[in-house]
Amino acid sequence: MSKAKPRWFIIVLVLLGLISVATFWLYAWGPYRLVSLDRLALAAAAPKALLRPSDEIPNTLEWTQRRTSVLQALETEIYGRFPEETRALVVRRQPIPAERAGGIAGVEQLEVEAPNGVRFNLVLVVPSTDGPAPVIVMQNFCGNQAAFPGRPSSIAPPTNYYPIPCRYGAFDPLHRAVFGEWMLGPPYERIVARGYAVAMFYGGDVVPDHAPDAGPALQRLHADGALAAWAWTHARVIDVLETDPRIDQQRIIAWGQSRFGKVALLAAASDLRIDAVVAFQSGRGGDALTSHRAGESVEAITQTYPHWFSPRYSRYAANDPEVDQHDLLTLIAPRPLFIGHAVRDSWADPAGAYQAMAGAGPIFDALNAPAPVFSMRTGAHGIVDRDWTTSLDFLDRSLARP
Ligand code: GCU
Repeated sequence: MSKAKPRWFIIVLVLLGLISVATFWLYAWGPYRLVSLDRLALAAAAPKALLRPSDEIPNTLEWTQRRTSVLQALETEIYGRFPEETRALVVRRQPIPAERAGGIAGVEQLEVEAPNGVRFNLVLVVPSTDGPAPVIVMQNFCGNQAAFPGRPSSIAPPTNYYPIPCRYGAFDPLHRAVFGEWMLGPPYERIVARGYAVAMFYGGDVVPDHAPDAGPALQRLHADGALAAWAWTHARVIDVLETDPRIDQQRIIAWGQSRFGKVALLAAASDLRIDAVVAFQSGRGGDALTSHRAGESVEAITQTYPHWFSPRYSRYAANDPEVDQHDLLTLIAPRPLFIGHAVRDSWADPAGAYQAMAGAGPIFDALNAPAPVFSMRTGAHGIVDRDWTTSLDFLDRSLARP
């Protein structure tokens, strides 16, 4: 008589089957499809003539005046209103010992408040080097506690909604396996050893990254989209950094990946106190031309993340955009700009990003600025070790003191 197969055996088989199907889908049709390098080469060889015929390449003074109207157009068409311009203050400062901050030394937790009632936690890691340190301002996906993993922890978790897989750290290994080692937080020790400080926040403390909760938060701030609200939060972080003598005010960097890459670009476009930008795989609504129509569609992004943008942006699903993402990139000139992509991230539309960069090129040239750097690595969406090496090397080169 044959023995019945144990039930767990069937469960494992079904799970393995599901994982294989999901992986196959991701790599064959889904977001991790291989980007056709031919397409990228084509984009490189024939950048679109994006400056409108009436646009003449401006001199520096004209450009300073013109950038306000470009920013306004981007707000009206894509990102919506920003929260009111104001200055934030530190209301509480707490040094955190390494054993309660994931083993990282030199950590401070700051409670920051803006006059419009916004409160959020900022975690600072400052090198103990002589003289003021350049600083990398960034936000994280799962809360500050996950960006400094380890127990026991004195790093405060988010104050609002945050995704269940981000709680308790149970899914952290999975996050890292899928999206790379540094997806939830950066390699602080390596960054600090190279002389940089890190200023880390969770944007969900200001506007939760969840449509039902984002609506009321945006209303309170008189803002239309979370990307603009998070870019505004970058500016509030800089208010605080400006009062810190340990920070080099000429070397403030906005660093972001994916949705936070979109935010880093927008933050720098709207705040001239930012001196350089690093944006990885920012794609639709970030560095990729909407008019390129590849990868994530406007329809998909505005349906899944309606709280990120101005409601007007959804019109671009069918209509030609009046302003496009190269306009956003021009607002970063003449400051150093690094754009990173991955060959297995067709969702973020690397060729569209290349075209936007090429479209912004004439403004960088006219302002005698170094051309933006475009980097394409192997692998998929996420942050791997190499991304930190390339971005720190880029920052060393482009922000070097004479
Ligand atoms: C989704 C979204 C992208 C975004 C990404 C991320 O994939 O569609 O636009 O960049 O999430 O933030 O990881």
